[in-house]
Amino acid sequence: MIWPQLACPDCRTRLGPSEVDARPELRCEACGRVYRRTPRPVSEADSASGLLATDPAPPGPSAWDFRPTTPRIQRFLSEYEAVRAAEGRGRDVAMLRDLPWPDPGHPLAWEWYIRAASFDCLVEQVLSLDPGIGLRVLDLGAGQAWLSRRLALLGHRPVAVDLSSHPTLGLGAAGLLQADLPAPFPTLLADFDRLPLADHQADLVVYNASFHYSSDYGDSLREALRVLAPGGRIVIMDSPVYRDAAAGAAMRSGRRSDYLSRYGFASDALDSREFLAVTEIHELGRQLGLTWTWISPRHGRSWRWHRLRRRLATGRESADFPLLLAHPSSDRAPA
Ligand SMILES: C[S@@+](CC[C@H](N)C(=O)[O-])C[C@H]1O[C@@H](n2cnc3c(N)ncnc32)[C@H](O)[C@@H]1O
Repeated sequence: MIWPQLACPDCRTRLGPSEVDARPELRCEACGRVYRRTPRPVSEADSASGLLATDPAPPGPSAWDFRPTTPRIQRFLSEYEAVRAAEGRGRDVAMLRDLPWPDPGHPLAWEWYIRAASFDCLVEQVLSLDPGIGLRVLDLGAGQAWLSRRLALLGHRPVAVDLSSHPTLGLGAAGLLQADLPAPFPTLLADFDRLPLADHQADLVVYNASFHYSSDYGDSLREALRVLAPGGRIVIMDSPVYRDAAAGAAMRSGRRSDYLSRYGFASDALDSREFLAVTEIHELGRQLGLTWTWISPRHGRSWRWHRLRRRLATGRESADFPLLLAHPSSDRAPA
């Protein structure tokens, strides 16, 4: 079976046959929209990774570009990429291949310790439910696509989707992460609320530290459900969850004012929700017919201490990062 089966994000007409198609552009027969591949950002990625111009280019085709060209997405990308670069991310492209286990001396190693625990939890408690099957996985908000790389190494069939084509912070880095894979995984530049995919194909949809960028969780999950195959599941991981919605709202406004003072913008172009409240998770489940399994990754004792210290310092709850596994009810429309 062809995976992924592409469809026009505007009118949903199939664009087929698939991402691996060698054509330079895709034209939607129904609405006339034309989609092209992005130019591969070889030179910037190469210089950032220390490769020489004479070294072979990273393997794999460049990404199809299905992004809406709205000012809000343009502003999101320029602000998001500026903040991530200022935080020192994407500086060392060679290290991306080690993720989620960077060198212990890496300046963000503490953060990757938490991310690695969530990844282990995904492998042990979700992927192990279907042993031996190469799952068709949608990695939504994939960033540099380190998770897609790990999934491909485990024998699954990931497709990485993101808004950013940045050579070291977005999908532009994916080529470098694929150099040692037997086959490249597809990369799609697209809004996860308007996926360029035909209905009912993915076995697993994963939002890895990306679901909280959504401006409307119901809309995002409805789109995920549209592309999910019968029996498929959705995972939300590494998004902040609060029992007390007021604590989440305080985190969001504190973060926006911090960005304003540090960078001169609040980084709020997408009007992202930025956190989930527990009541909201239950309500989304009720509205969309989802049964949630709440899984706690082994983030360790130092993480529990960190949360406790933050709680004492701020006087309010600090975020939890569970792995939320959604099982759609069996009475969904068949493929
Ligand atoms: C914090 S990063 C996480 C990246 C990666 N999953 C990881 O774990 O390192 C969030 C990512 O979500 C992407 N993103 C945010 N909103 C999106 C949307 N509506 N559609 C697609 N990607 C989106 C951003 O461009 C960014 O790369």
